[in-house]
Formats: sequence, structure tokens, C-alpha cells
Amino acid sequence: MSRKILVTAALPYANGSIHIGHLVEYLQTDMWVRFQKLRGNDCIYCCADDAHGTPIMIRARKEGITPEKLIADMHGQHARDFAGFGIEFDSYCTTNSDDNRQVAEYIFNSLNDGGHITTRDVKQAYCENDKMFLPDRFILGTCPKCGAEDQYGDTCEVCHGTYVPTELKNAKCSVCGEKPVERESKHYFVKLSNFEDRLQQWLSEGHVHEQVYNKLMEWFKTGLKDWDISRDGPYFGFNIPGEADKYFYVWFDAPIGYISSSMNYCKENGLNFEDYWKNPDAEIHHFIGKDITYFHALFWPTMLMGAGFNTPTQLAIHGFLTVNGTKMSKSKGTFISAETYLNNLDPTYLRYYYACKLSDGLEDIDLNLEDFVARVNSDLVGKIANLTSRSVQMLNKNFDSKAGALSDGARELLKPLQSASEEIAELFEKRQYAAAIRTICGLADSINRYVDERKPWAAVKEDAGHAIETLTATVNAVRIITTYLKPILPEYAAKIESILNIDPLKWDDSQNLIENHTIGKFQRLIERIDPKKVEAMVEESKQNQEVSEPKEQTELEKDPIAAECDFDDFMKVDLRVAKVLECEIIEEADKLLRFKLDLGGETRQVIAGIRKAYDPAKMIGRNVLMVANLKPRKMKFGMSEGMICAAGPGGEEVFVFSPDDGAKPGQRAH
Ligand code: MSP
Ligand code: ZN
Repeated sequence: MSRKILVTAALPYANGSIHIGHLVEYLQTDMWVRFQKLRGNDCIYCCADDAHGTPIMIRARKEGITPEKLIADMHGQHARDFAGFGIEFDSYCTTNSDDNRQVAEYIFNSLNDGGHITTRDVKQAYCENDKMFLPDRFILGTCPKCGAEDQYGDTCEVCHGTYVPTELKNAKCSVCGEKPVERESKHYFVKLSNFEDRLQQWLSEGHVHEQVYNKLMEWFKTGLKDWDISRDGPYFGFNIPGEADKYFYVWFDAPIGYISSSMNYCKENGLNFEDYWKNPDAEIHHFIGKDITYFHALFWPTMLMGAGFNTPTQLAIHGFLTVNGTKMSKSKGTFISAETYLNNLDPTYLRYYYACKLSDGLEDIDLNLEDFVARVNSDLVGKIANLTSRSVQMLNKNFDSKAGALSDGARELLKPLQSASEEIAELFEKRQYAAAIRTICGLADSINRYVDERKPWAAVKEDAGHAIETLTATVNAVRIITTYLKPILPEYAAKIESILNIDPLKWDDSQNLIENHTIGKFQRLIERIDPKKVEAMVEESKQNQEVSEPKEQTELEKDPIAAECDFDDFMKVDLRVAKVLECEIIEEADKLLRFKLDLGGETRQVIAGIRKAYDPAKMIGRNVLMVANLKPRKMKFGMSEGMICAAGPGGEEVFVFSPDDGAKPGQRAH
């Protein structure tokens, strides 16, 4: 009987791009859903952008656009990136939708009616400078649990502990750096303790990995605290019913996005969302990273229970991605966005490699770039794809593309491939992708050995019957192996289907064989990875970071209060006295002057935008203060090899710092 399955991946925040860390999740979920569909189950993959909260509001403010515009732009970017990796959602929405608002209000009202909501005044950090409460991620300070510095106000990235912002030590506003004050306001809470027994019961039923279960049981020992679900305005989110300036905390309406996204699917397909959320025969599987376990194992089931919806069948929790053994790093170029990856490499490689590494455990998974190249080239290209070229090309060339009948020997050869079907299915079902790949590669090895022994390339001249027997067996093996790989490599499988001239494969097709069948023409399946392209990708990731720098400088220019810089930082700036040797107008530009400066034996060209304030003739012979170690910049009108220090808002009001006459060119400021 076919199962009715709703699958979700965590909703990516709408204020950032998709990167290869995220893809660990969206790809494995996609593979699992594709597997279920191939098995003939009624399975849908629903997701959405997580669009609310302070970071999105602040970022939109900084960019001078509305949050709605920001999330719409990001939605387009995310959709493009997911499609680029062959990730196929049945529904992809946003949490800032009417459906989501309605379900959020419904769940809140249900909890309230059931006596599970309480209010009380809370003291909270407030930034008098930014005129806002500083929830969650906009306070930085020292984690009260493990002492790690520079942690956010809600969760610690080091110990994964959760707490409230006022518990943080040495708190400061992350927008302006001011020390926040305390202010009181009314907050809404969900009384988790009302659900303690039901939650424990639910957790004991095997919906989470044993390791997670044990960890969660520790939390129960100390008793469950009430969960604060409200935030004061200004906040980008949904109003709490009956409140003008209070909003649902983003983590309240974010998981509700699972429901509203499935609702969207149901509306488009003549179904009712209760077919999933109230139907005892439906399954709900949430794929999430380990960092957001707490939200999904405690808060979310509570909300579902309180509203009379089904609780999740499974929380499929995975570890984090590391690259070359360490956290992804911007400066090392290993913080790789989906876009940058796709600019350089075929998505099939990453789908294959992640599958090679994934299991149902919580361990982090490592993308070692050398191993990535080696593994893909030796196994996917050298073993798996190679089987197709070794058989199809010869059938095309020597046998008019016609496969023959299967001998008894060939049937025997293929039997272990066919009988592996249920074992591999079980591995996919349990998310043991790495083990599935190992089994599949073993099957491919056995067929490669068979081809090596029977040497069809030699037999074709002496014994055509022998050769075609080998080739027919091999294309059958290719077909069976492709069936097993299809959840992982859908695009690759589609190419094989076209080469073999067969209908789209379903899981059970491994149990039948093809004989006397005319195949299609061979086409290149997959190229070996050129390590240079991996280097180029890393290089591009480094560049990406540099590209974003000028933007940050502009921000600083707008805001004259720069971040604190320590003495070592200051000493990196090489400030020197320079004497103006030449100064002329650049005719093509209306703001620029070209300087030739004497730095004490060395001359430098500097282009400066101070023409409205200074007459070039009067500059000649003057001392100026220059940043002498600024990286030279190529500008439209030539190189600028430093910067002249000046103050003032711009235009006519610019004032050059001018060391007194006694100062000598080349002397360093101190
Ligand atoms: N918006 C929340 C989820 C709300 S779900 C109701 C969120 N967003 S996220 O963009 O930060 O992360 C989305 C998913 O990607 C999470 O499951 C997270 O664990 C996962 N990953 C983000 N970075 C990751 C790695 N570096 N490695 C593996 N998974 C990662 O959390
Ligand atoms: Zn502030």
C-alpha cells in the first residue's frame, strides 16, 4: 500500500544566500523524497523561505529597501540555486504569507483557549540609540553556559545552549555597539510544562535518533521553562491577535511555514491540508540540522499538540558540513555559495559526494576537496559511468544499437544486482546513503570485472555472439544500477534513460530485464573533475568576499562611528607626510584632481575627489598627510597609489590635513 508522506527541510532564512552547508540538508531531503516517489509512495517535499525577524528587518533598513522587497529578491535567488542543484520542491513558499498568518493565529488561539498561554512582564535589553528592544541575534555577549565570547542573545553556537538575552554577559547592541539598558514590557509565553508528559511520551516513541533522545531527556530533568513567543515592535512579522505593537517571535511562525507550504500544495492539487496534518495514516518527516533540534523536538510538537494536529513521524537530524576538516571559512575560500559552486562545477558531483558521506547519524560531514575530486573521478566516472560507455558505444558501432537475448549465464550474473533492491531500499529509507553507495559501487565492480574477463572489444571480431551476450548483460546492469542511483543523480539517470531508449525508471524496474531492445545513441555522461576548476571555485569564493568589502566601507562612511580598533590594527595604517609636487584637474571628471606626491625620495600618483574644495595651483608645494600603504587601485583615469587624508562631508566642505612646514616628506605619523 502506498504511504502518504509529507517531507520538509528547514526553511532557509531569507537574509542569506544558499551555501554548500545548507545543501547538505536540501540535497539529502531531495534524495529521500525522490526515493519515496520512485517507490510509488505519495510523497511531497514542502519548504519555504523563513522571512521574518530582526536580521531581515535590519538588513532591509541598511539597504534602504522594504523587508518585502528584500525577501522577494532572496526568494528568486533561492529558487534559482535550488533548481541549479536539481532540488525539486512540490511547494516552496514564504512564511510572510496570508496562509501562514492564518495558521499562526489559529495555533496561537488554540493554545490560548486551552490555557497554555500566559503573559508577564519581562525585563529585556533595549538599545536607546536604535530605539528598539534587542532580541535574539542582535545582542552579542558571553554565553552564560559555556563562557564562549561573541555569542548571540538566544543560542550559543559553541555549546548549543539556549537562554534569554538578559542572561548574556557583557552584552552589547550588535547594530551600534552601545551597551543596552533594561526595559520592561509584557510578553506572551507558551506553558511547555503543560505538555511535559505528552512530549516525553512522544519522544520515547522513536521519532528521534537515540542520541538526540538522550540529550532531550536531560532537558526534562530540570523541568521545561515557559517559551517566550512574542517580540515588541519594530519587528518584521505577524501581529499577535489583539496587540498593536507585539509580534510573534520568528521561531513561532517559522515551523508553521511547513503547514502553510503544504496547504499551498493541497490547494493546487484539490486536497485539504488536514489530509496530512490530521490524518492518522499520513506521515510527517522533518529534515533539520542539529543546531535547531530544540525548536523541533520541544516547541514544535507542543504547538502541534496544542492545536490538535499530528505530531511528526520523524525528525531526521543531520550534522554540520566542514570543508577540509574545518568550519567553512570566508578567508580560505571554503565558504562556497551555491551560485559560486555552479559557476565552476557540475552539481552531479556534489550530489554524488554528499551521498557518499551521509548517514543517519549526527556527526559532521566533511567535504575534503582532494577526496572529492578523487572519489568522483574514480568511482562515479571511472566505475559507474564507464560501464555505460564500455557497453553502449560498442552496441552502437558494431550491432546497429541492438541488444540481444540474455543467456542463462547473464541472468545469473544479474541476479545479485536485482536482489539487492530491497537492501538498498532499506538503506535509503533509513538515510544511510553512504552504505547505499557502497553497495551500488560493489555491484558496479562486479560487472566491470565481468566485462574485463569477457573482453567484448576482442570478441567482437572473432565471436560476435559472445560479444553481444556480454554487452546485453552489461546494459541491463547499467539499467539496474541507474535505478538505484536515480534518487541521488536524477539528471544522470535521465541521460541513461535516453541513451538506453527506455521509459523513466521506477524502483521496481530493477526486477525486470530488457532483451532484443534497440538502444539510443551514446552521449557523454559526465566529465572527470578538473582540479583546476575546484581551485577556481575556491578563488572565486575568496573574491566574493572582497567584492562585498566596498559596501561595508560605504556603510562606515555613512556612519562616522567606526568599530573599535586595537593598537596593532592602527599600526597597520602607514600614515606619512607627503609634499605635493604636481596637481592637476582631470578634465573628464568633475570631482577629481591628480596629484604627484613626494614621499621622501619616492613619488606617488594619487587621485583624490577634492576638486570642488581646492584650487590645484594652490595645492602645489603643500604638505599633506597620506595613507602610504593602501593597496593601489586602478581607476578610470589611472592608478591611485595611496590616499590623501581629509575631513568634512564632501563637495566644497573638504579639509585636507596638512602637516606644518617643518615636517619632512616621508616621515611617519605617530
Ligand atoms: N530559518 C531557520 C530554520 C527554520 S525551520 C522552521 C534556519 N535557517 S538556516 O538558513 O540557518 O538553516 C537552514 C538549515 O540548513 C538548517 O537545518 C541548518 O541546520 C542547515 N544548515 C545551515 N548551515 C549548515 C551547515 N554548515 N552544514 C549543514 N547544515 C547546515 O535555521
Ligand atoms: Zn544599538
